[in-house]
Amino acid sequence: MKRALLALLLLPLLSACEGGRDTGTPTLGLQGNPARGQRLIRQYNCGSCHTIPGVYGAHGEVAPPLYWFSRRSFIAGELPNTPANLQRWLLDPPAVEPGTAMPRLGLKPDEARDIAAYLSTLR
Ligand code: HEC
Repeated sequence: MKRALLALLLLPLLSACEGGRDTGTPTLGLQGNPARGQRLIRQYNCGSCHTIPGVYGAHGEVAPPLYWFSRRSFIAGELPNTPANLQRWLLDPPAVEPGTAMPRLGLKPDEARDIAAYLSTLR
């Protein structure tokens, strides 16, 4: 009896999680600040590996160029390209794709959000 009650209480919580599956870090919101993202891309030197339109000095050829990134269907061929998933990828690429050559760069969640916001302006 008690157990059934507990299950009833937990049910709405579980479905709330389910609905939030794609929102990454919900408390942050996903608006982001693309201008700050652009600066952070320089600061973290993403351009040593990637060519990234609109970012000074970002002409790397180690990794895929990020032209028109918002039009891409998948991130690293693994995740559907949504802002939340992009944030997740940027925070910890090897957690998404073990063995990937993109390292964990130690971004903070708000930094990853803003970088994702910049990348989604590339259309
Ligand atoms: C040491 C090189 C390196 C650095 C530095 C690096 N990346 Fe990457 N990145 C990669 C590689 C390699 C891939 C391809 C990963 C894969 O498909 O497994 C990748 C993939 C990506 C993708 C997905 C591309 C696609 O075609 O789906 C994005 C977006 C991305 N990186 C953004 C960034 C950003 C933003 C930064 C800086 C915060 C950064 N990367 C720094 C190597 C790097």
